[in-house]
Amino acid sequence: MDFQLKTLTVAQAAAEKSDVLIVLVGSAPLTTKDPLSVLAASARKAGDLPDKAGKLLALYRPDDVVASRVVFAAIGDGKPASVRSGVVAAVNAAKAHGPKRVVVVFAQAADGAAVACAVTAAADASYVYTTTKSKAEPRSIRQLTVGVADAAGVSAAFNEARATVLGIELAKEWGNRPANHATPTLLGEAAKGLAKLPRIKCEVLGPREVEKLGMGSFAAVAQGSAEPLRFIVLRYQGAAKDQAPVVLVGKGITFDTGGVSLKPAAEMDEMKFDMCGAASVLGTFRALGEIQPAINVVGLIPSCENMNDGRSVKPGDVVTSMSGQTIEVLNTDAEGRLILCDALTYAKRFDPAAVIDIATLTGACVVALGGVRSGLFSSDETLAAALQAAGETSQDRCWRLPLDDDYAEGLKSNFADVANIAGRAGGAITAAKFLQRFAGDFAWAHLDIAGTAWKSGAAKGSTGRPVGLLVSYLTSRAANGAADKPAKSDKGEKGEKPAKAASKTSEATARKARPAK
Ligand code: BES
Ligand code: MN
Ligand code: ZN
Repeated sequence: MDFQLKTLTVAQAAAEKSDVLIVLVGSAPLTTKDPLSVLAASARKAGDLPDKAGKLLALYRPDDVVASRVVFAAIGDGKPASVRSGVVAAVNAAKAHGPKRVVVVFAQAADGAAVACAVTAAADASYVYTTTKSKAEPRSIRQLTVGVADAAGVSAAFNEARATVLGIELAKEWGNRPANHATPTLLGEAAKGLAKLPRIKCEVLGPREVEKLGMGSFAAVAQGSAEPLRFIVLRYQGAAKDQAPVVLVGKGITFDTGGVSLKPAAEMDEMKFDMCGAASVLGTFRALGEIQPAINVVGLIPSCENMNDGRSVKPGDVVTSMSGQTIEVLNTDAEGRLILCDALTYAKRFDPAAVIDIATLTGACVVALGGVRSGLFSSDETLAAALQAAGETSQDRCWRLPLDDDYAEGLKSNFADVANIAGRAGGAITAAKFLQRFAGDFAWAHLDIAGTAWKSGAAKGSTGRPVGLLVSYLTSRAANGAADKPAKSDKGEKGEKPAKAASKTSEATARKARPAK
């Protein structure tokens, strides 16, 4: 889908060649006297277009409009959430007629955030997955023009939103692909494909390299699968080499059977979405390649299947993580944390300004927050606040949950340094507490996207979340100078520290960080 931004009044939008014209009507009185604005004002007065975001009024072939269909869509206060619901409702209504060209015009003044939300919402509502259908009907909309009073004033936000859509749709694509079309190897190839974009480099490690690094926890999850694991390292360099990067770590379980602690059969197909954290990292890099903000970002993706096999890791097995900490695998279905902990240890070698892991980690998070907000955990107030703000701006919202040390009590083990599960209570938090042991001394946040990364039921499919949140966080960080942690100059080039030295340092840090028993 091609997006365009134009300076258009409602009257000019009516003269644009298109199949559907969507007029976004806010709460403020409509003062212009063109026919459509007058019509909208009178509909509002008569109660046929209530001032509630998402309410619609459709017209067919009104006078002096090129488009045969016009949809008035209420956007209330014009804030991101309201624009999003107005545009989603209008595009869903317009979709039925298979329009090729759509114009969305703001009847009143719109800021950058409103325009950005109109773009992402229109893309979201019109997205269609086609890859594994033999007779695919792709999305009908070819071109979407956004009309505003002052295009120049919002063009930066518009361009960023357009790039974000490319990222969201890449994340949706990989999330939606069945596990046999999205193996760790294929994810690795997709990541390598991103290295064609400017400023992006990619390296993909296989089983031997991962073993050499000492990632015994990650390797234990992968050992029951016929598909070889992959550890993907992406780098985006938009700032000086010595500027400390933000590291994104995405859970890339391409299928989660639960392993020996097998999951029930019902809805197990949805465990193909267990790599949506990884997909969100790929999507974020796609957007970075377009936007090219002045910031350095590293993407780490541990990817494998969690399968049931004669070689699978068993409940009670003790594995040694890259940090040196031993882990008792009490439940093989708590595999996400087992692959993420080694990636978090690996992250230390980049001397990061911040590390954010993104994972479809716990069913408990789905129970706690449903599909509306992702779970956010962070030991760092500044990072937590920045991620929360990015969630609101992008309408890809999250909600902070606690990390009191008391929650780690249940992770004690008689046979290893830590167990991979605690009791049922507070399951999303105990998972986060497990990860925190491996997050050392850098600013760290964890996003549990188990409830938000995909939808179940009739609308089953990946949402592309939290690409919007991550891109918004990274671009505002770049805009604010990205310098809350100056890079240390005595360690040579970022990311070039040898593996051995890094693992020793991280072991020491992780041991220090371990809570007292
Ligand atoms: N991938 C799942 C988390 C999940 C479950 C996401 C359901 C979305 C819906 C994860 O690997 C998992 O199985 N977690 C277990 C942890 C438990 C064994 C402590 C869970 O949440 O049940
Ligand atoms: Mn699992
Ligand atoms: Zn999982």
